[in-house]
Amino acid sequence: MDPSTPFDSVPRRAGTDTYKWDYRPRNARGRDVLPMWVADMDFACPDPVIDALRRRVDHAVFGYTYASDAYRESFVSWQRRRHAWTVDPATLVFAPGVMPAVRSAIIGLTDPGDQVVIQPPVYYPFFDAIVDNGRTLVENPLVQVDGRYQMDLDHLESVISPRTRMLLLCSPHNPVGRVWTRAELERFADIAVRHDLIVVSDEIHADIRRAGVEFTPMVDVGPDIARRTIACHAPSKTFNIAGLPSAHVVIPDSQLRSRFERTLDRLGFGLASPLALVASRAAYDSCESWVDSLNGFFDAQFDRLVREAAALGVPIVRPEGTYLGWLDFRPIQKATGADDEATRRALFEEGGLWLSEGRQFGSQGSGFQRINIATSRALFDDAIGRLGQAVAALTATRDAGARQ
Ligand SMILES: Cc1ncc(COP(=O)(O)O)c(C=O)c1O
Repeated sequence: MDPSTPFDSVPRRAGTDTYKWDYRPRNARGRDVLPMWVADMDFACPDPVIDALRRRVDHAVFGYTYASDAYRESFVSWQRRRHAWTVDPATLVFAPGVMPAVRSAIIGLTDPGDQVVIQPPVYYPFFDAIVDNGRTLVENPLVQVDGRYQMDLDHLESVISPRTRMLLLCSPHNPVGRVWTRAELERFADIAVRHDLIVVSDEIHADIRRAGVEFTPMVDVGPDIARRTIACHAPSKTFNIAGLPSAHVVIPDSQLRSRFERTLDRLGFGLASPLALVASRAAYDSCESWVDSLNGFFDAQFDRLVREAAALGVPIVRPEGTYLGWLDFRPIQKATGADDEATRRALFEEGGLWLSEGRQFGSQGSGFQRINIATSRALFDDAIGRLGQAVAALTATRDAGARQ
């Protein structure tokens, strides 16, 4: 690894009202926990983004703003360069974030009582987005085949009913880190087309991938699926600008697009932050090599995590995408008799490490913890040390139990 990597000196974030660093409780021992849960990065975002924001701030006027043709062109050009995907700029809709877009699609394109299918374990706000809006949540759980997560497409067919209207896909998949292959997406798309379903494809993690892994945009799978797809992209994860919300929503079908746009308006999501627009354009226009270095950094960090966590008895499948690791505590839980709550306590109270609990992502996540590795090597080392303390505490409980 290049010793001069920009990803080793992270700014001190505490004191900036961040969820990650300012929202954390102390543990019962009065120790600050190390937060490795929420999915943003500790790194400064790339210089061209900072420079563009500075210039915009210096202008000193922040009136009502819209997503211009130039904003669209930055995204279109990025997709062409990075994914060989040709996006028609006329099909692009601005939304102030991916979850506002997902929720708007559910509200605008389905009716109350309609069924929406998700594939847990999956990004937990999907659950609420469906249930909060009076739609019926249907689960098609992922399955693990030889340790690798896959979509269970036979089961998917079996849960589809006349009330099913929408499939909500996480592609790449948070939290298990799969980057679905074109062949997998083709089979998924075939089901959506045959059952006349709308697909919302959340592609926010498209640009964070391990070396050699290719991302396939759902819209690019073929014209039949494109005309029923709402694909949600955003620069927030890739360039660490989640606090400047913006999303690019690709909707090739003009009728779906105008229904979606009307819903955004109805919900009051019509306005764009000038700073979000400026940051997004600079990111897509000028930060390609930064993303390449970032992905290289993550490749190395995941090599380490896989090695060191396995040595502690906590295996992890090396994710194909995202900067999130899915730690498998099931072997330790089995050996020690610990349940999810005991594991959480050991991590939080004994290790001083705050991860995302697997069970938040659906009952299928029981036995797992999600770790966000987008931080410096020094903080990562600290996390590994704390993981070791938590594992030692779990094992000590078993040993004490065995002696009694
Ligand atoms: C799959 C997925 N979708 C959406 C979001 C949030 O997107 P936004 O902040 O643009 O609403 C996240 C954040 O972690 C995510 O992992």
